[in-house]
Amino acid sequence: MPTASQVLLEEHKLIRATVDPALTAGEDISRRGPAAIVAHRASLSALADLLTGDLSRHSAKEDEIFFPAIERALGSTQGPTAVMRAEHRQIHACGDGFRQLLAGIVAEEAARTPEAAEALVERLRELGDLIGAHFEKEEVILFPLAESVLPPEEQRVVGDRLKDYRG
Ligand SMILES: [Fe+2]
Repeated sequence: MPTASQVLLEEHKLIRATVDPALTAGEDISRRGPAAIVAHRASLSALADLLTGDLSRHSAKEDEIFFPAIERALGSTQGPTAVMRAEHRQIHACGDGFRQLLAGIVAEEAARTPEAAEALVERLRELGDLIGAHFEKEEVILFPLAESVLPPEEQRVVGDRLKDYRG
């Protein structure tokens, strides 16, 4: 039975596997301009789907299951989990902006201007930075904290609940 941190770490890997190709696509669009958007549509759409699917579920299960377990152990909701919850909201607000820009660009060829391409790339970079910094904080600070404050048995029980979460 994996622990809570192991379950979430595995999800981070899967999420990065979709985020990273979209970031690479963004840098290519930045170099080649709007003409490159069509060639990268699959990886950009995969990121848009991830934001409303697996990433949204991942954040929700942390908010609803993982953070409350840590907050109970610490006896406070005002510690690092409050920062992580705020970052979830920031990531998803930025992600909504990205999805809207992408939808506009995909819907209409006339919308694929250099300015629109640059705006999309900027939003992608922002999103990549937010997700990257957030995951790193969780992996370096929060997961080790959970491992130190939750008894091993509870880490596994919470891990099971995280795996079973369907949103
Ligand atoms: Fe998170």
